[in-house]
Amino acid sequence: MSVHAATPDAVARAAALLRGGRLVAFPTETVYGLGADATDGRAVAEIFEAKGRPRFNPLIVHVTDAAWAGEIGVLQPVARKLAEAFWPGPLTLVVARAPGCPVAELATAGLDTVALRVPSHAVARALIEAAGVPVAAPSANRSGHVSATTAQHVAADLGPHVAMILDGGPCEHGIESTVLDVTGAVPRLLRPGAVTTAAIERVAGALTTAATGETANDPRRPASPGLLASHYAPGAAVRLDVTAPRPGEALLAFGPAVPAHDGPCRNLSPTGDLREAAAALFSALRELDASGARCIAVMPIPAQGLGEAIRDRLGRAAAPRDCDGGS
Ligand code: TXA
Ligand code: MG
Repeated sequence: MSVHAATPDAVARAAALLRGGRLVAFPTETVYGLGADATDGRAVAEIFEAKGRPRFNPLIVHVTDAAWAGEIGVLQPVARKLAEAFWPGPLTLVVARAPGCPVAELATAGLDTVALRVPSHAVARALIEAAGVPVAAPSANRSGHVSATTAQHVAADLGPHVAMILDGGPCEHGIESTVLDVTGAVPRLLRPGAVTTAAIERVAGALTTAATGETANDPRRPASPGLLASHYAPGAAVRLDVTAPRPGEALLAFGPAVPAHDGPCRNLSPTGDLREAAAALFSALRELDASGARCIAVMPIPAQGLGEAIRDRLGRAAAPRDCDGGS
């Protein structure tokens, strides 16, 4: 495994590796991504191998601006409006593949849609720019496991499978991009994330949502495979909305009123700040998992704003682990 500070020289070498069909992990403003040249089916196949990711789960394709995105997918008026408001930034738009779309079929799992994202992180942008190819990148964790928000997390999960890990320090948001299906007239929320529903609705009007149950009759072809129940899972069991932790549990706390507790404890935000909590979430889960506790008890977290995405991830971390479609 090779972790390198994201200097201009390291970014140039990483871009050359990408062009040569290798995998490179890189920081984004949300979480670390495991990148490959999206136009190279063999390189994309390596992503699925490295993560142990089911091949029916499509990848997000990263580019540096909306004009480039428009060569890959068809941006309808509502998609353009959202792109203008939120790109570069943590919003992913699922659109129809454009005629002549250069992205490998495997990256989109054979679907006629493609998920597009324009990251704001300077290292991610420099890397994609230098590679000169769209970069397919899921979160850089083992499939179904907790996402990686530091280069060290990536090394621990995927080290031997990655040609190079660019270290850009901890990720700013710490929670993945919001995924919106904008193939229809009304945008549909596929995954809550770093851009809140309220912020999107201010630009695009009311959203519809894809409840997990909607596609439960066909778990191999969910509207968005990231909706599968078990996901973001640490090794320990996870118990939600806990006000009285049990002896032996690790405690994932939130806010100032923490119940008395003997075991390991991490507070996502002692002041109850949801941005701070999102940024700390995946590191805290990994840390409490490493404490050896059999169960992580999670204090209640409000569902407003970024709380929606935090609760979504924790709900999947707590779900029964019999359905492995994680990303
Ligand atoms: O913040 C992020 O989005 C990070 C960074 C690296 O950009 N990436 C990320 O990728 O979270 P991943 O693969 O862990 O999650 C992508 C989600 C999955 O739930 C996948 O099913 C969904 O996007 N997705 C991708 N393409 C899709 C498509 N064509 N239709 C519906 N859902 C799609
Ligand atoms: Mg993921």
